[in-house]
Amino acid sequence: MENSTDEIPIYNPDLLKQLDYAALTNLKYSTPRSPQNPGNSLIMRPLCAADYHKGFIELLRQLTSVGDVTPEQFMDHFQQMKSCNGTYYITVIEDISISKIVAAATLVVERKYIHACATRGMIEEVVVDSGYRGQQLGKLLMDTLTLLSKHTLGCYKTTLQCTEENIPFYEKFGFKKDPQVYMQHRHKP
Ligand SMILES: CC(C)(COP(=O)(O)OP(=O)(O)OC[C@H]1O[C@@H](n2cnc3c(N)ncnc32)[C@H](O)[C@@H]1OP(=O)(O)O)[C@@H](O)C(=O)NCCC(=O)NCCS
Repeated sequence: MENSTDEIPIYNPDLLKQLDYAALTNLKYSTPRSPQNPGNSLIMRPLCAADYHKGFIELLRQLTSVGDVTPEQFMDHFQQMKSCNGTYYITVIEDISISKIVAAATLVVERKYIHACATRGMIEEVVVDSGYRGQQLGKLLMDTLTLLSKHTLGCYKTTLQCTEENIPFYEKFGFKKDPQVYMQHRHKP
């Protein structure tokens, strides 16, 4: 059962209404798309707590291993991320005809002291449901988060990590392979 708390967005949805797509797009959309018009029966918006029950976690399973996430764990994380105001911009596309989250991507904003107190945007967890791929939803999410990062939030750069096979996808949006090497010290499998 949903209540008003479940409908609270993780960030201010008005930010999506103010984006100027003319400022960015490298590729043309085969049909016009924007956060206000992602496609037939689709809406784009910030993640809400209710999305736990709309398949958000199941969608993430198409990206990587997710494990068990209880509603309580989901809510706890949601509230912690929301309380870090201006940091987590988890954006979803819902097919409202079936109340299902069919695409999602996250922008995380990191505040720094270097570069005169700059902010850096990091795009994470870009995924489109297998039944909805090839409809430019991945592109719409990438354009949206890049615009948010660059223009709305003033980040000095936007970065992401991806597999070799996805490099051509991200290159379409102006991302370039960086000479710096990504290192990790993995603590859990
Ligand atoms: C990668 C992914 C997000 C693409 O989503 P999508 O909605 O199908 O992509 P779009 O329809 O927006 O494609 C936009 C453009 O990128 C191209 N493209 C899509 N996937 C691509 C890929 N893996 N490699 C190269 N180009 C790709 C499309 O052909 C299209 O090009 P065009 O506009 O010139 O015709 C989707 O396939 C997916 O969720 N994959 C599984 C999860 C994943 O790997 N996520 C990335 C994690 S790093």
